[in-house]
Amino acid sequence: MIIKKADLLAVAVKKAQYPQDDQKEIAFAGRSNVGKSSLINMLLNRRNFARVSGNPGKTRTINFYEINDDFRIVDLPGYGYAKVSKSISEGWGDMMENYLSSRQNLLKVIQLVDIRHAPSVQDVQMYDWLRYYDLDGIVVATKADKISRNELSKNLSIIRKTLKLSQEDLVVPVSSLKKTGNTELLEIFDLLLED
Ligand code: GTP
Ligand code: MG
Repeated sequence: MIIKKADLLAVAVKKAQYPQDDQKEIAFAGRSNVGKSSLINMLLNRRNFARVSGNPGKTRTINFYEINDDFRIVDLPGYGYAKVSKSISEGWGDMMENYLSSRQNLLKVIQLVDIRHAPSVQDVQMYDWLRYYDLDGIVVATKADKISRNELSKNLSIIRKTLKLSQEDLVVPVSSLKKTGNTELLEIFDLLLED
């Protein structure tokens, strides 16, 4: 797939603000600062389309991007940022639950984890949640430029083990900085959108 066109379609905190469910959606989930927005920018080949910040917790809304007038990429709000207030973190849970539990056109939620570290307790909870809703199966390991080639396979196997992935589940290392892994991910998009 080649992404030729991307438009920010909607920014939502509640169902009434979602766009109509008439196009397929592929969403990204992961802790704050894991690199969701950066990954979306890399896929879109845009420098600063999805907002990126060193200031974690930047994406606190569900952002819907329409791609090639054909399907959507959805940037879900990050979790695990300690400094957000209790009301915001409760709001996060409701926002996610509403979206994950009822979105008919949602094909898959791609879970992002930082390739440098073993997935956190919250990463494991998030992935279990995806499994519960049958949206699991694809994990992206971000910031691959930050580890050596030697560490790569070791870290990938720790990720597989910690998230209790099965053989068929995919883990794709990516670097938004070095622009690697995007071709693999776009091929996965093709497969998801095919059926
Ligand atoms: P929230 O919106 O807070 O949930 O964060 P996010 O997951 O969207 O992360 P974002 O893309 O904003 O990136 C967070 C920080 O990580 C930024 O400082 C990015 O520049 C950095 N970053 C993202 N991807 C990469 C990568 O592949 N390599 C390196 N070295 N840094 C990255
Ligand atoms: Mg973000």
